[in-house]
Amino acid sequence: MAEPAIIARGVCKSYGKGPAAVPVLRGVEFEVASGEFVAILGPSGSGKSTLLNLLGLMDRPDEGDLLVRGRRAADLDEHERARVRCAHVGFVFQFDSLLPEFTILENVLMPARLAAAHGLSAEPAASVTARATALLSALGIGALAARFPSQTSGGERQRAAIARALINKPSVILADEPTGNLDRANGDKVFADFRRVAREQGAAVVLVTHDEPAAAAADRVLRMADGRLT
Ligand SMILES: Nc1ncnc2c1ncn2[C@@H]1O[C@H](COP(=O)(O)OP(=O)(O)O)[C@@H](O)[C@H]1O
Ligand SMILES: [Mg+2]
Repeated sequence: MAEPAIIARGVCKSYGKGPAAVPVLRGVEFEVASGEFVAILGPSGSGKSTLLNLLGLMDRPDEGDLLVRGRRAADLDEHERARVRCAHVGFVFQFDSLLPEFTILENVLMPARLAAAHGLSAEPAASVTARATALLSALGIGALAARFPSQTSGGERQRAAIARALINKPSVILADEPTGNLDRANGDKVFADFRRVAREQGAAVVLVTHDEPAAAAADRVLRMADGRLT
């Protein structure tokens, strides 16, 4: 059997130092296979974003072992983490994360330009642009490609952020409450999209949410409680 795309063993993370340290993750254990869509449920403040930031190699665990696509997070320096992120990880941030001075299309293209700059992709620009346009259409915002983020709604920006996370065909997709700004129908559509991408692209998808009914669309639902996943 292939190695899981994500492996977490005894992952601990606190904020602050010494006696003032506040433990957030207290021994997270889980694995996500390629092609699997896992939803993580938990109340606000339970550590969902903290965990996702670790999985996205944007922060390091204090203790425990974390492997993303076979790479041990603790062994990677800043530069290597950036490369792994760029090559393998698509991230949908919890809050508005589009760059305001670029159009929706340019925002979606940004990770592809980074990948090219890192020497990770030789795909011609026209082909990338065509894929970006198709992604925007598939997400129902094809007509907004030339607009700036300030000229779109919160839900439209959220969908653009999803297109941006998918542009490099990542094998690990991490989404932090991606449906927070969407109504039920669009939220369900986004869950269905993630499920499809997991299947078609063989991507490992980890989506955190506090939307219980929507999470039921995932292959597996885990709960964050007391700094652990159950
Ligand atoms: N950078 C940080 N510095 C200090 N405390 C933080 C930081 N980020 C998050 N926290 C705290 O850690 C806890 C978990 O936060 P978070 O992971 O954002 O939870 P969730 O995403 O589930 O709402 C909260 O109590 C939050 O205040
Ligand atoms: Mg959060």
